[in-house]
Amino acid sequence: MYNLKIKIVFVFFLINSCQYLLSAVTLKNNPTPVVLWHGMGDSCCFSFSLGQIKKIIEEEIPDVYVKSIRIGNNVIEDVENSYFKNVNEQIEEVCGELANDTSLKNGFNAIGFSQGGQFLRGVAERCPGPGMKNLISLGGQHQGVYGLPNCGSLEHKVCDYLRRILNHGAYLSFVQNRFVQAEYWHDPLKEDEYKKNSVFLADINNELVVNETYKENLQRLETLVLVKFENDTMVQPRETEWFGFYKPGQSTELQTLQESDLYVQDRLGLKQMDEAGKIHFLSIPANHLQFDEDWFKEQIIHKYLV
Ligand SMILES: *[C@@H]1O[C@H](CO)[C@@H](O)[C@H](O)[C@H]1NC(C)=O
Ligand SMILES: *[C@@H]1O[C@H](CO)[C@@H](O)[C@H](O)[C@H]1NC(C)=O
Ligand SMILES: *[C@@H]1O[C@H](CO)[C@@H](O)[C@H](O)[C@H]1NC(C)=O
Repeated sequence: MYNLKIKIVFVFFLINSCQYLLSAVTLKNNPTPVVLWHGMGDSCCFSFSLGQIKKIIEEEIPDVYVKSIRIGNNVIEDVENSYFKNVNEQIEEVCGELANDTSLKNGFNAIGFSQGGQFLRGVAERCPGPGMKNLISLGGQHQGVYGLPNCGSLEHKVCDYLRRILNHGAYLSFVQNRFVQAEYWHDPLKEDEYKKNSVFLADINNELVVNETYKENLQRLETLVLVKFENDTMVQPRETEWFGFYKPGQSTELQTLQESDLYVQDRLGLKQMDEAGKIHFLSIPANHLQFDEDWFKEQIIHKYLV
């Protein structure tokens, strides 16, 4: 009798530890997948940019599935589309692609590079699923930009042309629908025009109407990590990387996220998230997207992806 009891306890212990081991093994073999979205003039897969990032993540997290978003049928189209394909259409496509990818069905972490940061926030707000867990925005422009000092890989002449279009007619509907950078152009001297006509940024920021779905979906994030490059000379103003911007009506004085109407009126649930400690504000004393591998491993991969 005594013996049997011990045996039962032992068997129970064995089953339990097997289950524990099994779950540990499953966990180890199924790390949370990572989705990447590149910036302007870049592509999913260049070996010197996101190809390299993908490799680093795969080395640091064995067996992780990393998907780097490509818009178009090849890398050339991908680069072109980062200037000329309507972001709303891009996000709709990405929603479908993520939903179709069975590797992502239990959720994923996301890292957006520059404009990819606000695009992935659009994905978090608009796509019904699968669920995004942590969203890391590296130099993203969450309150838009007012200026385009650098056009990435565009030729000088074309860049000048794009800049002129943005300065003079960013809110014309044919410009809005055709130029990606117009879709997050935020002119603080024309706040009303911006709110009414911006087909992408003003929409995902709930500027004109509060879309409760966006608010609810964003709240589902475990963490929103906003990385600002303190010496950024590509993004104007760089405070937009932390959701700050110019105070409305002028273009010199700045305000933080916490000082903005968006936050005070909690139109997007950011106040709620901030008070719950779900928004992490990181900064690096460097120019746009200039971080080294050690920083990326320590501050991003090991803090948010493993
Ligand atoms: C998702 O899968 C369905 C069914 O296989 C297919 O019809 C659809 O085109 C796919 N969508 C995307 C965006 O890949
Ligand atoms: C809110 O966003 C969802 C998802 O994009 C959309 O289907 C819905 O029409 C929007 N609602 C409003 C009131 O704009
Ligand atoms: C970078 O930005 C920081 C914070 O604004 C500033 O203190 C520092 O002097 C800047 N460094 C350079 C090299 O411009």
